[in-house]
Amino acid sequence: MAEYILVAVAWPYASAKIHTGNVTGSHLPGDICARYHRLKGDHVLMVSGSDSHGTPITVVADKEGRHPREVFEHFHQGFLELFQRLGISYDLFTHTDTENHHRVAQDFFLALLHKGYLYTQVEKQMYSETQRRFLPDRYVEGTCPVCGYEAARGDQCDRCNTLLDPTDLINPRSKIDGSTPVLRETEHFYLDLPKLARAGLTEWLQTGKEHWRPNVINFARQYVGEGLQGRPITRDLDWGIPVPVAGWEGKCLYVWFEAVIGYFSASIEWAHNHNRPEAWKDWWYNPSAKTLYFIGKDNIPFHTVIWPAELLGVERLYDDDPEHKLNLPYDVPANEFMNLEGQKISGSRNWAVWMDEALDRYDPDPLRYYLTAAMPETRDTDWLWEEFVRRNNDELVATWGNLVHRALTFAYRHFDGRVPTPGTLEDVDTSLLSRIEGGFEPIGDLIAGCKFRAALSEVMALAREANRYLETKSPWFQIKEDRQAAATSIYVALRAIDSLKILFAPFLPFTSEKLHRYLGYEGTLFGKPYTATFEEPGGRVHEALCYDNSPATGEWTPSQLPPGQPLQWPEPLFTKLDESIIEEEKARLGR
Ligand code: MF3
Ligand code: ZN
Repeated sequence: MAEYILVAVAWPYASAKIHTGNVTGSHLPGDICARYHRLKGDHVLMVSGSDSHGTPITVVADKEGRHPREVFEHFHQGFLELFQRLGISYDLFTHTDTENHHRVAQDFFLALLHKGYLYTQVEKQMYSETQRRFLPDRYVEGTCPVCGYEAARGDQCDRCNTLLDPTDLINPRSKIDGSTPVLRETEHFYLDLPKLARAGLTEWLQTGKEHWRPNVINFARQYVGEGLQGRPITRDLDWGIPVPVAGWEGKCLYVWFEAVIGYFSASIEWAHNHNRPEAWKDWWYNPSAKTLYFIGKDNIPFHTVIWPAELLGVERLYDDDPEHKLNLPYDVPANEFMNLEGQKISGSRNWAVWMDEALDRYDPDPLRYYLTAAMPETRDTDWLWEEFVRRNNDELVATWGNLVHRALTFAYRHFDGRVPTPGTLEDVDTSLLSRIEGGFEPIGDLIAGCKFRAALSEVMALAREANRYLETKSPWFQIKEDRQAAATSIYVALRAIDSLKILFAPFLPFTSEKLHRYLGYEGTLFGKPYTATFEEPGGRVHEALCYDNSPATGEWTPSQLPPGQPLQWPEPLFTKLDESIIEEEKARLGR
């Protein structure tokens, strides 16, 4: 039965360009998952957007003397283009500065307030006397009280991932001018996490999490087990979503409180854009729907504790059915980090492979291939240019690309540009085909279980077997003596290739699509991305990335390649890379 699958991908801050670490951390695994489930015939909704609020944006705006809106719109535009070039197939990639998101986030806040999960408290917070304003968390740096890291940010320690409050820091200093902030009283709303823990959060974390990655569930259980405290969810800021309570003018919702609500508000926006205003409920209220959150490890506390707490506390929104409850995350397959040539990625030191620049020089599928093969699923990994070249040349070019090219060009030349008609299949033939056909279920299960590296390496292993088959049969010799035997070998090889095309498709959508045409099929495996401009009732206009799944014809099933089908002359799917690029690319780093 077709399932409802929500693919929820962390919303990137629209204040910096996207690099390889961001792609392999969240966008790419989300896309592989979405494409696989679409091939399976499931109902997929893949959403994300630009996180346009918060201090990452205002820090850049302050530094460049621009308005935060200009900053986030600039990066948002870049993201829309990048995801299309890389084939990240968002059903909707929007942003958090839409009227829709503002309203939904405020309604979430009010629902929590009315249900008694918010309280107000006067607290002393960091205030800069030189700047005459309260300093947001990320504007304060100091020593982490947990691990002693000296450059911990006010919201979170980058070394031990502990969530912090700026007042927790030892030796705090302002990031703007290095001055020591003072404490001043201010009133804020707090999310009552202890109450939410008792209302079901703790129990939810204790049950049915066997399919979660151990580091993710362990972190969440430990975080809750240590005894939760209320967390302030408003800030003294003017860039953000206003607190929807009279007398609270000049204060905004905390970016983390509202950004996670984006998964929900984007689903509503998507439904509205498609003139099916209630359609989002299939993913949010249907208890058998699965919601998967693709994030980096620094986001684990927000997605395993804070966001589930918000959902649980709100219980139901925009719906009167007393049976309905908002779905809590089905899985949060957080990735570790991908470093670069042995060092942590750092934008400010230009120690990064910027994805848009990489796409200027390389095709999307080889980049996707390497980013999947080295995906940091269970531990930190490294982007190594040498490995990129090796995997491209040995695996994509020499194994998969070569198999495709030899079989297709041979069929084209010797069998009149058509799929040849086989004779009787022998054991060698059927055993290759059944090996490959038998791959669909286990490889599908690996992908559904977010084990993308293992899945990809299984597919490549099958491609190697098909290559060996072709090598053993050597139809280029067979054809001199026994045309029928050569026809059988090529038919079997093409049918194996046709199946491999589908198995590779979630990972390598561009080349699978090309191969689909070379094999003589009409139509496309996947749908089509497009950008659209939306005007909201209040007059705000925004551009978003969308996806039209209706032309898709791909299916997660073994090949039924019909003999006689006309082929197209194939171009090579992949290009060999010269070893010299390794040094060239490394020379770009750190300058
Ligand atoms: N913008 C945050 C980051 O880049 C992630 C936000 S995920 C969300 O770390 F769910 F909160 F949106
Ligand atoms: Zn720390």
